[in-house]
Amino acid sequence: MSDSTLRIALSKGRIFDETLPLLAHAGITPLDDPGKSRKLILDTNLPQVKLVIIRASDVPTYVEYGAADLGVAGKDVLLEHGGEGLYEPLDLEIARCRLMVAGPVDERPIHGRLKIATKFVHSTRRYYASLGQQVEIIKLYGSMELAPLVGLSDRIVDLVESGNTLKANGLIPLETIMDISSRLVVNKASMKMKHQAIKALISKIGEAVSRKKKEP
Ligand code: PRP
Repeated sequence: MSDSTLRIALSKGRIFDETLPLLAHAGITPLDDPGKSRKLILDTNLPQVKLVIIRASDVPTYVEYGAADLGVAGKDVLLEHGGEGLYEPLDLEIARCRLMVAGPVDERPIHGRLKIATKFVHSTRRYYASLGQQVEIIKLYGSMELAPLVGLSDRIVDLVESGNTLKANGLIPLETIMDISSRLVVNKASMKMKHQAIKALISKIGEAVSRKKKEP
């Protein structure tokens, strides 16, 4: 990537929507709406700044390899990725939720090892290891709520925001593993090579986060 360009990786939906005002504070406005356009590289009002629209779980990979200089990713995704090759200079305090253990409202007695279905394998393993509890982790890619309903697992580990998805499926939150929010991540080489531009952007975004926190 040429020295003057900045590529920022974002995922569609909540992260994109909640990152926009922070970028706006840094003087960056996309020229397309990813909700309407099928484009994966969006131009912005600044010719040297592009937004790349990718899946949330791919953001750390694009940034690690320098295909994007910066990105926004949930702490859940970063913990699963491992965070190699990335700086994490800012907690953007957006897309907040909790990583939780949940189980059926009418849980039957569990004999032997707990079976946990999740896509958050690393965080789940770490959590139960910290409790000294041996569990069987079943890797899924989505719709974890279904697993206890059809006997695939005893419990699940998933993100919970309002709790409505759990409730709709007869599950209740049991334990909080951690609070989650989205973070700004930066490629380590970009941070050196494009130091001034990236430092200025981090500073502006940080300012926007602080201002938002002070809002009533
Ligand atoms: C997340 C999560 C739950 C749901 C929780 O899924 O996996 O299914 O949100 O939100 P709630 O507590 O407000 O009901 P998301 O919609 O992000 O999609 P995903 O399943 O693709 O991760």
